[in-house]
Amino acid sequence: MYQKKEILTYFLVFIFRICSSTDTIGPNQSLKDGDILVSSGNAFALGFFSPGKSRNRYIGIWYNKVPEQTVVWVANRDNPINGTSGVFAIDPDGNLVLSDESRNLSVWSINVSSITLQKSSSAQLMETGNFVLFQDQSRSVIAWQSFDYPTNTILPNMKAGWNRRTGLNPFFRSWKSHDDPGTSEYVFKLELNGTPQFFLYKGSDRLWRTGPWNGLRLSGVPEMDPNFVFNIIYVENDDEVTITYVMKDPSIFSRMVLNESGTLERLTWQGPDRGWARFWDAPEDQCDNYAHCGEYSNCDLFNLSCQCLEGFVANSPNDWCGLDSGDGCRRNYALNCCNGDGFVKYKGQKLPDNFSLEEFEPSRL
Ligand SMILES: *[C@@H]1O[C@H](CO)[C@@H](O)[C@H](O)[C@H]1NC(C)=O
Ligand SMILES: *[C@@H]1O[C@H](CO)[C@@H](O)[C@H](O)[C@H]1NC(C)=O
Ligand SMILES: *[C@@H]1O[C@H](CO)[C@@H](O)[C@H](O)[C@H]1NC(C)=O
Ligand SMILES: *[C@@H]1O[C@H](CO)[C@@H](O)[C@H](O)[C@H]1NC(C)=O
Ligand SMILES: *[C@@H]1O[C@H](CO)[C@@H](O)[C@H](O)[C@H]1NC(C)=O
Ligand SMILES: *[C@@H]1O[C@H](CO)[C@@H](O)[C@H](O)[C@H]1NC(C)=O
Ligand SMILES: *[C@@H]1O[C@H](CO)[C@@H](O)[C@H](O)[C@H]1NC(C)=O
Repeated sequence: MYQKKEILTYFLVFIFRICSSTDTIGPNQSLKDGDILVSSGNAFALGFFSPGKSRNRYIGIWYNKVPEQTVVWVANRDNPINGTSGVFAIDPDGNLVLSDESRNLSVWSINVSSITLQKSSSAQLMETGNFVLFQDQSRSVIAWQSFDYPTNTILPNMKAGWNRRTGLNPFFRSWKSHDDPGTSEYVFKLELNGTPQFFLYKGSDRLWRTGPWNGLRLSGVPEMDPNFVFNIIYVENDDEVTITYVMKDPSIFSRMVLNESGTLERLTWQGPDRGWARFWDAPEDQCDNYAHCGEYSNCDLFNLSCQCLEGFVANSPNDWCGLDSGDGCRRNYALNCCNGDGFVKYKGQKLPDNFSLEEFEPSRL
């Protein structure tokens, strides 16, 4: 049933081209430009594409049922192929390789040791949009999966965070532009210092943080309502610190993307007439910017200005009418437990940055 193709000289072996619609590339099979894999329920497709106005070719995964091409994962994002000579294949060692036939060059491959791989490995595009390389034909052991190496999109059922056993920390990096899926300087990732929380970076500058998990939601994302269209699963144990969202109705397409302007957006498909609708984005306003106000202060959402917490005064004397230098505040007099000092309740705040319950000492407040 397989069409015999010319020798792919790079491997010096016979590679058989995928025919008709399937979700799997088997041993010694390949995908040429124009061929696609389609997941079993038709939600996702994998194949070669050109983004926007670009004529470069990339291997990507997109929504198969959404008419405007919406790419959720890209393999060779920094190594495009010029022309239609790309071949995506499982090589005789069982490795997934993308090569440019016209240049006899491998432009992308997965980084799995040959010990993990077997000659009979096969790769399957799952209905979740995850592309999985199984170690062998029994499909019981996963050697590699695209969900562990995401690009700019968090899909339902994808675990975002740290695998403490393998050290794997999938992070999200935006495209350079609408026409170029190359890696840009905007990165969204989980950090484990203090209590785990996600940070948005531009290069090495922190732009925003989600705040740590508070039992119900990430404390800086009040919109994460448990009654929303998805359930959120947060796991923090010796094996992993991960967050996953699972659609209550799996037929709804919802994705979170770190876009080219460095904004995180939650988009949901509303059908061909209404397109992708934005339900949430972050950072939202200047109060949301990382460390906007400095220590012992908070940002007033009513007038977007900083103010000292009760009992504190501005560090910088110029800040008497609004602390916009970010210098923060200090105590206006030493704590005196017997002189009426006590606790003040603040509602609707993110938990303090780098706050660690394990190292919690009352004197630090
Ligand atoms: C793949 O191709 C190599 C080289 O032609 C061959 O030795 C091997 O048996 C093939 N593997 C499978 C599973 O067909
Ligand atoms: C792509 O290939 C075409 C034709 O071979 C060539 O004219 C063009 O300069 C190439 N573009 C790049 C960016 O290499
Ligand atoms: C690719 O490599 C093979 C063998 O190494 C060689 O015969 C062939 O000419 C090369 N093709 C190109 C386009 O460089
Ligand atoms: C593969 O992993 C090794 C070790 O982690 C690293 O040094 C190497 O650069 C990686 N190669 C690619 C192509 O990612
Ligand atoms: C990124 O998202 C923000 C907020 O949703 C939007 O205003 C902006 O236009 C988006 N940028 C791009 C390049 O799509
Ligand atoms: C902002 O509003 C708060 C009350 O919500 C007020 O205490 C504060 O003085 C205002 N700051 C400025 C700079 O107007
Ligand atoms: C966070 O706290 C840990 C110790 O709890 C410390 O080692 C680390 O440097 C702190 N990080 C930042 C960014 O303050």
